[in-house]
Amino acid sequence: MINENISEVTPIIIDSDQPGFVQSDAVSGVMRRATNYLQAGFPIHFSGPAGTGKTTIAMNIAARIGRPVILLHGDDEFGTSDLIGGQYGFRRKKMVDNFIQSVLKSDERVSPEWVDNRITVACKHGFTLIYDEFTRSRPEANNALLSILEEKILDLPAGRSEEGYLRVSPEFRVIFTSNPEEYAGVHKAQDALKDRMITIKLDHYDRETEIAIVKTKSGIPEDEAERVVNIIRTFRENVENGFQPSIRAGIMIAKVLSATGSKPEAGNDDFVETCFDVLSFETNGVKSRPEGEVKKVIVDIIKQFC
Ligand SMILES: Nc1ncnc2c1ncn2[C@@H]1O[C@H](COP(=O)(O)OP(=O)(O)OP(=O)(O)O)[C@@H](O)[C@H]1O
Ligand SMILES: [Mg+2]
Repeated sequence: MINENISEVTPIIIDSDQPGFVQSDAVSGVMRRATNYLQAGFPIHFSGPAGTGKTTIAMNIAARIGRPVILLHGDDEFGTSDLIGGQYGFRRKKMVDNFIQSVLKSDERVSPEWVDNRITVACKHGFTLIYDEFTRSRPEANNALLSILEEKILDLPAGRSEEGYLRVSPEFRVIFTSNPEEYAGVHKAQDALKDRMITIKLDHYDRETEIAIVKTKSGIPEDEAERVVNIIRTFRENVENGFQPSIRAGIMIAKVLSATGSKPEAGNDDFVETCFDVLSFETNGVKSRPEGEVKKVIVDIIKQFC
């Protein structure tokens, strides 16, 4: 019989004062809605393309909740035991009874050892679970979440305890993030799971927020951050089918400028080449431009703003 369950999972404590986190009106609005839904007891789900701030906002909300945080990244290889726990090894129990000197009684038992995994630990202790990119896990691996979110009960496979279930702590909160389904390596979230959470759709930030983020993350002056963001946003509008560069592209270009003490000017070859490298990895998605002409599109955009 196993009385006590062990776990190797340790939560992280996120400082609620995150320097470099930009809280523009748009970001504050999203945070407020999300906090309200969590307060009302609902899990939330940030859904949107790459680089739209899903993970960053999730971490900041978790920091505000103030409880320890368990981070989980969706993975196609996950099975129930990776999320809930399983039998990882054995425990040996030996009892030696030498009560009467001439009689030695010994009883040795080997029993499977159950180890709690992340979701179980979060449910048990009322931690905040951030399940990043949860649609990368196969839907059946996420099945245990259905009863956790609805009945507040975690069904445990036989072996962990006699009860076979665990009552979820009232302080337990979940924040999911995912990219929309057209991305490779992603499973369609099962409807029953999606039905239990409130989805907030995120898209690329507004211009002012992007400028503030680029400026804060790189330390370049505001007018230069503005130029970089104008270039990224205009290029994004030109992308028809391919990958739309996110705020990350802006942060990259600005950090290179800052690190090399360079300026965003049309006559600065280093800057122009950085823009080529950062932006033109997906060349065939640019509107009415055959492959190879994308550099001309970038040069035209740079000339428009610098
Ligand atoms: N409000 C913000 N303040 C400061 N930086 C931010 C903010 N939102 C996003 N960022 C920065 O923008 C980049 C992209 O954000 P994040 O990683 O959260 O996006 P994501 O939507 O999770 O992307 P992915 O789908 O690729 O995981 C990161 O470098 C992050 O630090
Ligand atoms: Mg992310």
